[in-house]
Amino acid sequence: MARKKIIAGNWKMNMTPSEAVALIETLKPLVATEDADVVFCVPAIDIIPAVEAAKGSNICIGAENMYFEEKGAFTGEISPSMLTDAGVKYVIIGHSERRQYFAETDETVNKKVLKAFEHGITPIICCGETLTQREQGVTIDFIRQQVKIALLGVSAEQAAKAVIAYEPIWAIGTGKVATTEQAQEVCAAVRACVAEIYDQATADAIRVQYGGSVSASSAPELFAQPDIDGGLVGGAALKPDFGKIVNYK
Ligand code: 13P
Repeated sequence: MARKKIIAGNWKMNMTPSEAVALIETLKPLVATEDADVVFCVPAIDIIPAVEAAKGSNICIGAENMYFEEKGAFTGEISPSMLTDAGVKYVIIGHSERRQYFAETDETVNKKVLKAFEHGITPIICCGETLTQREQGVTIDFIRQQVKIALLGVSAEQAAKAVIAYEPIWAIGTGKVATTEQAQEVCAAVRACVAEIYDQATADAIRVQYGGSVSASSAPELFAQPDIDGGLVGGAALKPDFGKIVNYK
């Protein structure tokens, strides 16, 4: 069975609740499609109004982060039940910005992935190398390690439903998109790694996105690659251009 594309916006720390509602109203007609799953991952405070604004459309609301405990004395964190109760279906886990600025590690990523599955939330698991790692020729080794640790203890059935976003750090917010060949090579390596951990059926089912300066002009070629099942889009997800990315064909 062919994999359905999944095109997700990562709003990062942008948009107040009222701006979020306005942006969703603007984008709603532009992102209407049955060919791809469309997800808007928004700041925690925007989730409730965003879910309300997206009602009746094909837009799913996701979160940008989540804690791995059920509840308790974790000031400032958001629990998985808070997300599901608010109507969230997807959560970004281990974005490079969270690893860089908020000390997330492969181990916390793994805990969050397991917890998301426990609550029926689909994790969008991020991986990606630095420019130094690419220059050192260790990109694939590094990505394989990130993927393997993220999926520790995850069943094949769960992994088949997961989304992995390959986001080279040097391509994020820089306007420097990876070449189609670079993006396809790593996304194929992610899939091969999943086949090694589980089996070919799981690898054929899991969806692998590319992220990093995706634009309306780069999306068509990237998303046409055999192992790229859509994108995780930052800056361009905040503009009407996101409609063009979703309807890239
Ligand atoms: P940009 O599309 O702004 O480069 O951001 C990519 C990203 O980090 C999405 O998670």
